[in-house]
Amino acid sequence: MKHAVTKYTWGPEADFLVIGSGIAGLRAALELCEHGRVLIVTKGSRFQSNSMYAQGGVAVALNAEDNVNLHFSDTIKAGHQLGREDAARVLVEEGPTRIQELIAWGTEFDKVGGQFVFAREGAHSRSRVLRARGDATGHEMIRVLLERARQRSTIQWFDRHFTKDLLVADGRCYGAVVVNEITGAVQILPSAGVLLTTGGVGQIYARTTNTENATGDGMAMAYRAGAILEDMEFVQFHPTALYLPSSPPFLLSEAMRGEGGVLRNRKGEMFLSRYHPAAEMAPRDSVARAIWAEMASSRSRHVYLDVTHLGKAFIRNRFPTIYRTCLRFDIDITEEWIPVSPSAHYVMGGIKAGIDGETSLAGLFAAGEVACNGVHGANRLASNSLLEGLVFGCRAAKSAASLPAGSKPAHLKSLAARFVTGPVSTLDDGEKLRNSLRRLMWEKVGLVRTGDSLVQALAQLSRWDTQIQGSLHARADLEVKNMIQVARCITEAALGREHSLGAHYREDFPSCKGSVWKTHSQIRLSAPLTFPSTTRRQAG
Ligand code: SIN
Repeated sequence: MKHAVTKYTWGPEADFLVIGSGIAGLRAALELCEHGRVLIVTKGSRFQSNSMYAQGGVAVALNAEDNVNLHFSDTIKAGHQLGREDAARVLVEEGPTRIQELIAWGTEFDKVGGQFVFAREGAHSRSRVLRARGDATGHEMIRVLLERARQRSTIQWFDRHFTKDLLVADGRCYGAVVVNEITGAVQILPSAGVLLTTGGVGQIYARTTNTENATGDGMAMAYRAGAILEDMEFVQFHPTALYLPSSPPFLLSEAMRGEGGVLRNRKGEMFLSRYHPAAEMAPRDSVARAIWAEMASSRSRHVYLDVTHLGKAFIRNRFPTIYRTCLRFDIDITEEWIPVSPSAHYVMGGIKAGIDGETSLAGLFAAGEVACNGVHGANRLASNSLLEGLVFGCRAAKSAASLPAGSKPAHLKSLAARFVTGPVSTLDDGEKLRNSLRRLMWEKVGLVRTGDSLVQALAQLSRWDTQIQGSLHARADLEVKNMIQVARCITEAALGREHSLGAHYREDFPSCKGSVWKTHSQIRLSAPLTFPSTTRRQAG
């Protein structure tokens, strides 16, 4: 059957394409712009990344009582020993340099008496979390990076452009196909080096702390292009998101427990010490599951976070954004317990990447949440993600910059045509499909999974996937397609991993089966899920 070719034009030719404008993308662009012309492509506006809303802070071993070895062992321990040690070493050792650099560029982390203050958070053995304006750390870091990027003449922006697909042939990436969100115009952006920094997938769950942008676009397009995705079953649920019928699941930073806040069940009892010896300071996966269990046993939809004993002035000053936001929903957190429940927050898996951001496709690099270099293992240590974006964004950029000068393939035109072929179509009821998907994932592939729930979810996801035909052009439709594909990858990987580890909890396989299972799952288009280098013997 002959298909029509969508009308398209060629966009500006850049030496480097950075897709995504969160912390990893901006840091990468600032490195790349020293080596050539950079085009940053972002859906929506450059001010809407998840990084912008990060509250708690950035973990870094800069406190006098701390050192990189302690940060390293906390990272590996929180990740249940699944984390790749080379990646964790890079993170903790290069972290201090990246943060000092950001401070030199104008980032204002909070100080008391002229000294930086370091907060303590769950699973950290030392106080090591820097923050800005109390609970607006991401905003402050992004402010400085955006301002610096604005001053660089070799950085150009394509805001409100949705990246539809990567331009890939014979295992190499040559650029991307984008759609203008306002006009619908399709453009081909050729580039020798493409860096994906599109963030996470939180929106595939009915309850998430993520912004509306987190629809897994980068992972889905890399998957369609043939790249390997890794460890997709590991989705982190933040223990404490606001639970009110009238509000979105707004994040209530772990730093609140770090400062002395406590969790209480429906009867007002503190309960975490019954689940983990570190109680309020336990790792995120344990706290989230303890809340889940407490909610189930008391048939309640939430538990409470109590910070009332910390004092009015302290709370208002330390958590101004959280204080104001809760007040808008009629909760004065200085006087009332806050209803909270877990919400999807972060995916440890993603596009398989090395410590220099290299992926399984030549010319394609990935950094930040979209990537999986294994640094977080089975459960990310609190406040390691902003640091990850900075460190690995910078490293991926350095390796992309060292690519040999790209020679355009002779067949670029016919390659481009291949990616814009097919009848243009729209989803019949995309909004309904999106909501059904989010509910399905929440109910069947959430904090607690079983083989049965995963099989049911996979069957439904496959049906939806095959229903999507033709070439979609509207951003909302393209997002739904990406969400379904990423949800399928997560579900397949969760089904394949028949034990519980870190954030992946199987009710039918509640224990961890020992080191033979401590390996990384890999999934790619048209190939079965694998656990390379594992002998799948039943242990433990
Ligand atoms: C928080 O402040 O609790 C979230 C920060 C993070 O995800 O590391």
